[in-house]
Amino acid sequence: MFEEERILTSERTENDEYENVLRPKTLDQYVGQQKIKKNLKIYMHSAKKREESLDHVLLYGPPGLGKTTLSHIIANEMGAEIRVTSGPAIERAGDLAAILTNLSSNSILFIDEIHRLNHTVEEILYPAMEDYALDMVLGKGPSARTIRLTLPRFTLIGATTRAGMLSSPLRDRFGVYFRLELYNIQELSTIIKRSANILNIQIDDKASMEIAARSRGTPRIANRLLKRVRDFAEYEDMEKITLGIAKNALKCMEIDELGLDNVDRNILNTIIDKFGGGPVGLDTLSAASGEEANTIEDVYEPYLLQLGFIARTPRGRVCLKRAYEHLQKAYDKQQLSFFD
Ligand SMILES: Nc1ncnc2c1ncn2[C@@H]1O[C@H](COP(=O)(O)OP(=O)(O)O)[C@@H](O)[C@H]1O
Ligand SMILES: [Mg+2]
Repeated sequence: MFEEERILTSERTENDEYENVLRPKTLDQYVGQQKIKKNLKIYMHSAKKREESLDHVLLYGPPGLGKTTLSHIIANEMGAEIRVTSGPAIERAGDLAAILTNLSSNSILFIDEIHRLNHTVEEILYPAMEDYALDMVLGKGPSARTIRLTLPRFTLIGATTRAGMLSSPLRDRFGVYFRLELYNIQELSTIIKRSANILNIQIDDKASMEIAARSRGTPRIANRLLKRVRDFAEYEDMEKITLGIAKNALKCMEIDELGLDNVDRNILNTIIDKFGGGPVGLDTLSAASGEEANTIEDVYEPYLLQLGFIARTPRGRVCLKRAYEHLQKAYDKQQLSFFD
């Protein structure tokens, strides 16, 4: 069971310190997301040529797909300084004002979880993004007056798992939107091999494909599974991760061939058993399954949707035929191994 730490979670956990080591530093090392890379190269090239800062960029997509990594790469490729903060970390308007006035020219301000900025803070951002201006109110009461400070030109990169939760005035002030896509197995396998190389362990092609297939389209999960599988290999004194080791390790982690774990199965089984396959609303599903609504939406659903296991309809989530088939398969296998 994954009670203490869910291995498949695509959110960061404190065990992810090695993430920085595995982060690609240049656009060429950044695997996949071809469309984004292609456009980004063009935008960066012309901004550099005009000696201007890059337009403000909004990156959105499920956790673990490479938003933070990409922001650092942009800074690196632009030769720009990067200042990193996050929506929940900026509590007061003054905090943001302090950050903005300390930016150097053409630098990058990265705000993670930008959908969690509070409203008063967000309002400071509007003129900052649009006019590179900071409106400050001096004094109080009738004698209060507003002065406008000019800010250096900067690029705001916002990252969010929920583009829908951004207010439209904020959304409209980004010149560039990139929606990150789940990665295919080939891309994940490339990432796994690259990471294995950095972590100094050999891995078979078949083994990296196997881990890739179970990584839910998510590089963060791919890297985490690789680390776990490496533990198994080391425990067995093997110098190389083979298909056999990978399969065995993944089986011990109760991750099935498609990368589903107990939580996914719980969600699917809840829709099927308690709601006749749906449709069921998100909150009802959350209450019945005991999983948080936000987490279902951000972390589990994107992959289940991609697999064609569930669909979102106006009346709620429904389970599709493929999910039934997959669960049935898993069920049959379990029965078989019971009689082994
Ligand atoms: N395109 C990519 N190529 C190679 N590794 C990647 C890529 N995207 C993400 N990663 C790896 O996955 C991990 C999580 O990426 P991160 O940028 O922190 O995701 P996010 O900010 O979207 O949650 C990083 O350690 C990074 O090494
Ligand atoms: Mg991040």
